[in-house]
Amino acid sequence: MADIISGTQLSKELRTAIRGKIDSIRKAGNRVPCLAVIIAGEDPASLSYIRGKEKACTAAGMDSRMFTLPADVSQEVLEETIRRCNDDPDIDGILVQLPLPKGLDEQSVLHMISAEKDVDGLHPINVGKLYLGEDGFVPCTPRGIMELLKRMNCDLEGKRAVVIGRSKLVGTPVARLLQNANATVTVCHSRTKDLKAVCREADILIAALGKARMINSEYIKEGAFVIDVGVNRTEDGHLTGDVDFEDVLPHVQAITPVPGGVGPMTITMLLDNTLKAYEKRVK
Ligand code: GUN
Repeated sequence: MADIISGTQLSKELRTAIRGKIDSIRKAGNRVPCLAVIIAGEDPASLSYIRGKEKACTAAGMDSRMFTLPADVSQEVLEETIRRCNDDPDIDGILVQLPLPKGLDEQSVLHMISAEKDVDGLHPINVGKLYLGEDGFVPCTPRGIMELLKRMNCDLEGKRAVVIGRSKLVGTPVARLLQNANATVTVCHSRTKDLKAVCREADILIAALGKARMINSEYIKEGAFVIDVGVNRTEDGHLTGDVDFEDVLPHVQAITPVPGGVGPMTITMLLDNTLKAYEKRVK
């Protein structure tokens, strides 16, 4: 029988531990950690994500500040908002919700966020630290994936890991984390030839391609560990992953569901990164 690993359950446990640390900070009479979230525009999915982040901060006992800017905000005003957050001693973590509306320069924005407050791990200094295997901020979804693999009791040492997708938020950083954990890693993408054959070699398969239920049992090595990062909305409004869950289930050792797998872990790791930023700053 395959293990279905709940990110909701794991998140609950990790968030209880985070809440405990924040309660101790508060009881000692100290300022609690604070996350600033900056969003430009009114994309409904992005607004729903940032509401989830705000709620999670409150539930963990953290402070949060939401900066909601119009879709036609200028680069200058957006950068001034980031500068204010960088300079504000009471803000520990800064996240600029992506994607930005057309016309805004994402690269320039990500470079502006103070590396010490970059809880998304997208500043070049933190990207470089991950590349070098040094301690820095690691993007939240990849960190969540590594926690899920740990919960699966998945031994990565010397194993074949295949990552489908090479985005800067998920595929590229998770491949690096897997490599730093001594897995042998292959990164696949839209131009990869014979994707099925590559995936069938995977002891660990990370699906982050953004195609609803594309990964069926033909892509699975018997006994593989499968992490489904996909969040796709079906025509009838349901959420579904990149993996055809029912089809692959009889063939895997362990798998994460959608919803309730990677999704909740991303926010949990954001809370953890914000706590880490706070601890480094107050030291
Ligand atoms: N949009 C979707 N996921 C993310 C994320 O993890 N961080 C940011 N900044 N934007 C996102």
